[in-house]
Amino acid sequence: MELVEFSLERIQSLFENTVDHNLSDSGVHPYTMRELLTPEQIEQVLDVELGYGWTNGEPALRRSVANLYRDRSADEVIITNGSAEANIIMVMSMLEAGDELIVVVPNYLQIWGFAKALGIVVREVPLREDTGWQPDMDELARAVTPQTKMITICHPNNPTGSILSPEGMDALVAFARKHDLWLHADEVYKGSELDGVESSSFVDLYEKCIITSGLSKAIALPGLRIGWLVGPKDEIYKAWQSKDYTSITASAVSEFIADIVVQPTKRAEILVRSRRILNENVALLSGWLDNNANLFSCILPKAGGMAFVRYNMDINSTDLVHRLREHRSIMLLPGDVYGMDHFIRLGVGAPKSHIEQGLKHLSDYARSEF
Ligand SMILES: Cc1ncc(COP(=O)(O)O)c(C=O)c1O
Repeated sequence: MELVEFSLERIQSLFENTVDHNLSDSGVHPYTMRELLTPEQIEQVLDVELGYGWTNGEPALRRSVANLYRDRSADEVIITNGSAEANIIMVMSMLEAGDELIVVVPNYLQIWGFAKALGIVVREVPLREDTGWQPDMDELARAVTPQTKMITICHPNNPTGSILSPEGMDALVAFARKHDLWLHADEVYKGSELDGVESSSFVDLYEKCIITSGLSKAIALPGLRIGWLVGPKDEIYKAWQSKDYTSITASAVSEFIADIVVQPTKRAEILVRSRRILNENVALLSGWLDNNANLFSCILPKAGGMAFVRYNMDINSTDLVHRLREHRSIMLLPGDVYGMDHFIRLGVGAPKSHIEQGLKHLSDYARSEF
């Protein structure tokens, strides 16, 4: 199996911990256990038995996750190690060599790269910047062939922070239904909508849908490594069979904490914090963009932990990111990792002081060099 380098993750793995101002993160600043849990809950964690548990996820947690969706049972949910594992086992269990997969891009390119390695034919259909990062249904239609099995979208979108309107979601579902395609949505950013209006889940809209999600982004708990898949029972059973090969089970401690976190009141409290952090930082970014309009522009994110910023400077995005890292100790992600030069991805979930200083360094450098 030949895996193309996952350059989005690789560049972060190499450099994110080597700088003073890391603006490459894509989630909301994480909680500590002490901030998240009550003293009683922390005591309860100490009594969790460190066994394998249930390899498809602890039943109470699966029920709680199922309750986040419409009319779903625990058998339509499998708990995974992060949404990353959920994406991998979704591809392993739903697609095979020779199938065609439409990937709506830009996208977190894990599914894109892993599917290619398995011999699945990947066709990209872009979200268009001039329509606020929306898909064009005619372009989607042109990408469908008799071998097309699935469309995958990241919604809310990494990296643009765009969301589809309810009508846009319905149109995508109608399109998938018309062509009898599976629809997969990576919904790890769902709940981080800045206006507080949470998008629907695609799995509530379409019977041939499977979604992946987890606690890493909107819920600000990436270190728990808890994700999940939700979909029809048979497909979830097949995904469970793939999980026998990947990791067997998730951590019992993480599952225990996850079941506290996904209860409606706690989840709502966490999302209020996430949206507060994101709204403050996006306002900061917006002011900074106004002051630097000759160099940078951006359709501000409507959700999620990042902004996809276009720059007006004569330099390749990877070169720019390395120069900023070396000369100003700030870390951003280059648009190149999405195949989109002349953009940089800037995390907006970090503490405000970090973002303030990072943006100042960025504009100072851009002004002095270009
Ligand atoms: C859209 C998207 N999906 C999945 C993942 C993997 O997340 P995790 O495994 O931490 O839940 C990421 C990480 O950046 C992401 O941005």
